[in-house]
Amino acid sequence: MDRQITVDAVLEALGRVSYPGYATDVVSLGIIEAVEPLESGGGFAVIVRQASASDQVMHELAGAISGALKRELGVPRVELKLRKLEAELGEKTGRARLEGTRYVVAVLSGKGGVGKSTVAVNLAMALKQLGMTVGLLDADVYGPSVPMMFGAGEERPRAAGGQNFYPVERYGVKLISMGFFLTDKSPVIWRGPMVMGAVRQFLKDTLWGTQDFLIVDLPPGTGDAQLTLAQLVALDGAVIVTTPQDVALLDAARAARMMLQVHCPIIGVVENMSYFVCPDCGERDELFGAGGGAQLALAEGTRVLAQIPIHLEVREAGDAGMPIVLKDPEHPASRAFMDLARGVLAAMPKD
Ligand SMILES: Nc1ncnc2c1ncn2[C@@H]1O[C@H](COP(=O)(O)OP(=O)(O)OP(=O)(O)O)[C@@H](O)[C@H]1O
Ligand SMILES: [Mg+2]
Repeated sequence: MDRQITVDAVLEALGRVSYPGYATDVVSLGIIEAVEPLESGGGFAVIVRQASASDQVMHELAGAISGALKRELGVPRVELKLRKLEAELGEKTGRARLEGTRYVVAVLSGKGGVGKSTVAVNLAMALKQLGMTVGLLDADVYGPSVPMMFGAGEERPRAAGGQNFYPVERYGVKLISMGFFLTDKSPVIWRGPMVMGAVRQFLKDTLWGTQDFLIVDLPPGTGDAQLTLAQLVALDGAVIVTTPQDVALLDAARAARMMLQVHCPIIGVVENMSYFVCPDCGERDELFGAGGGAQLALAEGTRVLAQIPIHLEVREAGDAGMPIVLKDPEHPASRAFMDLARGVLAAMPKD
């Protein structure tokens, strides 16, 4: 048969190929960058955004794509081209350990609103309860939520001479956030370079003193704050927060990939809003589907550190300015956060 296969036909067929381990197809997930006809032979190049750190996943993806195109359209040759994520991030130059701080751990997610700040705040507090000394850096310059979650919205860092300042201290945890520097409630309108400047200052000009952990709450995605942090300081690990849904998972995989490229090990995945415990009967209800965190962990060659239930009290505690691990240590969510803290502690390099 001598009919011409079109790019549109290829895209349509790709719309029926699911991403390994997920129900969603590769086109809807937005990882197909382009489809281009090869110069000769009637084949196609498919340019794919790399979304997983796992060679096995990328290998399976390549197999699924070329298999489908050959089977459905009779495409004679398929070349899969990977577009690596921010390859220049791999530069190791200029990253030193943060003096006085033993471990720096980043909390990140692909998507907004999955509970990163809630996890960062409770992880910091839980580590404190395990006897660690802890600082928490809120690197979300546009949407700082650490001051509110710690009930410290009215606090201001004390000046310490020169450019330096002391972190605010609450419940025995040292805090720094853009929220402490805003004089009124006006939204932050800084641009990228300013974000970098703020993160740099928070890291370098804050007198953190000596501490076991610095937890960093990052804004969602793979932007300036992540980049700056990774360039300025050696990271000991990252915790990826996700909800159990497909799309959030793929974004999370991309965030995980970015961390690996800056040589930051992924400690594991926190599946937040994972299940609902019925207050009357105590039964577990998996609202958003089950096992998503496990899928992500598997795809990234890492593990699930904790599953945090969705619970009104978690939000209420945050809104009331006292992390739930402190407010109600026996709460199921608090126990999950304590497990998370133990997992993070266990994963730290011993020196
Ligand atoms: N396990 C949970 N149970 C109930 N509510 C939760 C839970 N986790 C987070 N929330 C609530 O969901 C909202 C979003 O959480 P949070 O601010 O921590 O997310 P985020 O990922 O940091 O968001 P952003 O992308 O805006 O920084 C908050 O109101 C928070 O209190
Ligand atoms: Mg946040």
